[in-house]
This record gives sequence, structure tokens and C-alpha cells, in this order.
Amino acid sequence: MKLIHLSDIHLTVPGERMGGLDPHRRFAQALEHVNAHHSDADRIVITGDLTHWGERAAYEVLQNVLTEQAVPVRLLIGNHDDRERFKSVFTDHPCDANGYVNHAETLDDTRLIYLDSCAPKTHAGHFGADRLAWLEAELAAADHARIFMHHGPMEVGVPAKDLITMVAQDRPGLKSLFERYSTVIDYIHFGHVHAPIHGSYCGIPFSSVPSLGNQSIPDFAEPRMLLGGPLPPAYYVVQVDGRATRIHQVPFLWDGPVFATGTAWEDWAKPLAAE
Ligand SMILES: [Fe+2]
Repeated sequence: MKLIHLSDIHLTVPGERMGGLDPHRRFAQALEHVNAHHSDADRIVITGDLTHWGERAAYEVLQNVLTEQAVPVRLLIGNHDDRERFKSVFTDHPCDANGYVNHAETLDDTRLIYLDSCAPKTHAGHFGADRLAWLEAELAAADHARIFMHHGPMEVGVPAKDLITMVAQDRPGLKSLFERYSTVIDYIHFGHVHAPIHGSYCGIPFSSVPSLGNQSIPDFAEPRMLLGGPLPPAYYVVQVDGRATRIHQVPFLWDGPVFATGTAWEDWAKPLAAE
């Protein structure tokens, strides 16, 4: 199975910029690159912050773009999204019985679980008892699973980012669930932090993906402000082989030099004039 993980596209009303760039153009460039190089992917998963201001016109543009997209796309909402406005545009989008944009599907015997970790008017993640019950039912019925979410379920060790990670009161419930199903969950994939962060949690490997817009720069001393800048964007190619995972970060906008280097031992002979 091949999955494309991209995140935090922050679409605006067309014509409006965000963070000094045109998010529509950036999203189009990413999709163009995916379509050119990974048209065999099974899914494109966008882990939230589909829009920056939660505006209807931005969701409508996204809807239009996706009608022309050959690789099936799965959507999650993020803290910049507006759940009700999203649902009012994507009227057929699956939701759980409580109205959260929690949904799941089975692909190659793996349950792909897409979570809604949002709450109104807060940048932090929420995942209370009602959502936990839905997730537990999914995990109980799965042989193995892969979790996609906007907010990571844990603190990431950067003070300002931890102000907007999963709220403290909702972390223990998720942690306990992940511990109980650590042999079922193969991987946790998330966005939100606009940076690649990798590790393990409850014995489960996790990765966050860079944003399609501006990237954050980790500052381990700054207590409050999120630091960032126009570093190159990227998406992930996630190769799933049974229960194994390989993740490749693709700098799809790189237009600098590209060196081609041989892999045979003879290619490594030192030239007379070394560069
Ligand atoms: Fe974001």
C-alpha cells in the first residue's frame, strides 16, 4: 500500500494570501507532483487545517479540486477548520453518530482510522469520552490499524507547541487506549505542528509531516510564541508493507541543484582533481 500524507494546506478565499504565500498555488503544486510521481498511490490523506479561516469559499475550492483528483483523497479537519461549515460543503462526508468527522475504511487488511480531534475556538486538540468510545470500537474490531489525526496525542517537547497539542485532560484516555491496542496500531500519523517530528508513543511509532505552507522552527526555550518561516514544504510517501512502514519526505518544490551519484564501487574512485 502506498499512502501520500500531506497536511496543513490552509486554503483561503481565492486571491487571499496566507503567511506570505498563495496556499491554492502551493496545494496545486503538491498535487501536480503527487500525480506526476505517485499516481499509483492508494490514498492521499490530508491531516487537517484544510482551510485557514474555515470559510465556505475555501472549502468549495477544495471540493472542486478534489473532483479532478484521480488518487482518492481522505480529509481530516484541524484547528483552523470549522466543522459545521466543512460538513455543509462536503455534505456526503462520513461522520460518527455524534457528528464528529471521525471515519475509517479498510485497505489491504489494515483499518485506516481518520480522527477528528478539534473543538471550537481553540488551537489545542480534544478527544473526550464520546470520541474515545468510537475509536475503541474501531480498534476492537480491527486486526491492525493505522491512525491519522490532526493534533498529536502527546506533548512533543517544544513548550509553545505543547500549548496547542492534545489538551492535558484528554491525553490520559487516549494514552490508555493506545497502550491497550499497541499491538493493533501500526503507526500514528499527524500534522498540526508544521514540522517533521518522529518518535514512539505507547510503543507505537509516530511521525508528523511538514506543512504545505510555512514551517515551524523548534525553539526549546521560547515558552509561548510559535516560531516559523518559509522553509521548503514537503509531503510524505508512506510505503506500507504488511505491518511495516517506510516514510520518505519529498521536497516537491526544490529547484536547486540535483547531483546524480553512482552506486557501484568503481564510481567512488577518487578523481585526480577532487571537488
Ligand atoms: Fe496548521
